[in-house]
Amino acid sequence: MNALPNPTAPAPCVVEADHRHVWHPFTQMQEYESLPPIVIASGCGGWLTDTEGRTYLDGNASIWTNVHGHNDPDLNAALVEQLGRVAHSTLLGLTHTPGVELAAELASLASRGLNRVFFTDNGSGAVEVALKQSFQFWQLAGRAEKSGVIGMAGGYHGDTFGTMAVGDSGFFHERFRPWCFATDHFPAPDAHDAGASLAALGALLSAKAGQTACLILEPSVQGAAGMRLQPPGFVRAVADLCRAHDVHLILDEVFVAFGRLGPMLVCVDEGVCPDFLCLAKGLTGGYLPLAATLVRDEIYDEFLGTYESRRAFFHGHTFTGNPLAAVVALANIRKLRPLIESRVLDKRIREFGRLLNDAFGGHPHVKALRHRGFTAALDLVPAAGGGAEYPVALRAALQVCLCAREHGLLLRPLGDSLLLVPPLCLDESELGELVARTRRAIDETLPFIS
Ligand SMILES: Cc1ncc(COP(=O)(O)O)c(C=O)c1O
Repeated sequence: MNALPNPTAPAPCVVEADHRHVWHPFTQMQEYESLPPIVIASGCGGWLTDTEGRTYLDGNASIWTNVHGHNDPDLNAALVEQLGRVAHSTLLGLTHTPGVELAAELASLASRGLNRVFFTDNGSGAVEVALKQSFQFWQLAGRAEKSGVIGMAGGYHGDTFGTMAVGDSGFFHERFRPWCFATDHFPAPDAHDAGASLAALGALLSAKAGQTACLILEPSVQGAAGMRLQPPGFVRAVADLCRAHDVHLILDEVFVAFGRLGPMLVCVDEGVCPDFLCLAKGLTGGYLPLAATLVRDEIYDEFLGTYESRRAFFHGHTFTGNPLAAVVALANIRKLRPLIESRVLDKRIREFGRLLNDAFGGHPHVKALRHRGFTAALDLVPAAGGGAEYPVALRAALQVCLCAREHGLLLRPLGDSLLLVPPLCLDESELGELVARTRRAIDETLPFIS
């Protein structure tokens, strides 16, 4: 008898066991169990297929990770080749070629002194490492009073305690506040004007820089806040303020890097060199869990000393720098570079923007459309201009997502916003399908609910 799970087993058995045993992330399980299930069996390019043989466009890039599509032959080949060598060996006291090559590749992408790479296996971990390294750095430098953290309103950096403390995700994390350390936040800019935000940050730094270790920012787009956009020059202005006040800048590019907004790294595109750079999600093209925190040389140097000096960074995870994930990340970057340099990705992004504007500009149920790179958010309302919102219990955006499934499209709601975050491999006709199916789902749902 075959003891391996059968990926094409009839959905009812899997669903029954899923409902009995699996606790899904960010999910009200009572609601989940009442909804029609989808059991994914396979994927190809921008498409996923379920155990019933139905195909769906992956409009969510499998939680904002997928770059070249599912089942990509180049990423698969890299993975299989490494699998024939070794699946895992530790970076604790040993090293391996995939980990070293990837660290060198990331350092060369970031350039400008971000030469040290600390691997973890998820975005929250990458941010925790940056926070802890900044905190420890100031102690080692004899300035232990610099221990505070500044975040930006609406920031999301993960769900571990440190990342919850520096984030600002409203009710997502509210109940855990009592266990989180205190932090300061400054207001986010609006998409066209950063004046008030930067003035508030300047005042905060003038008052508190002497007690502040670092500032953390999602550059260009705050994804989990609903694709909140920053105006050109904002990241540079924040970096200049941090530098002027001797406060570390942590850029959290977990969501925005690896072509998601067009460039490989947003900080390079913005001409900004942070003290710490956090990467995850698209790093392995959406294949395997891997994250990295890139650190400036001067910060790394402060941690050096004899064993008994206790300057070492005591932090690590079992699967840190896993070689399978590292070779896939290298294959991902090598495949993405020509897509960016040839401007093919830019062309797709422009087409995505045009399609979105044509479909949703002036749409009666879309109060606002935000688009940058391969990300978009649509804020849904009962009727544009009326100022009313849907009652929370109606789950308006979820209802649109359920209708979208009927049209072969997987999307995620965020409150009453719809988030569109497709794999970067979608060609222009697939982008057309994504937008058309989204529009159909909105038009077949929202006029009939209130
Ligand atoms: C900007 C940002 N930082 C950190 C995280 C956390 O990453 P992970 O879910 O891999 O822990 C996310 C996840 O969405 C994110 O968008």
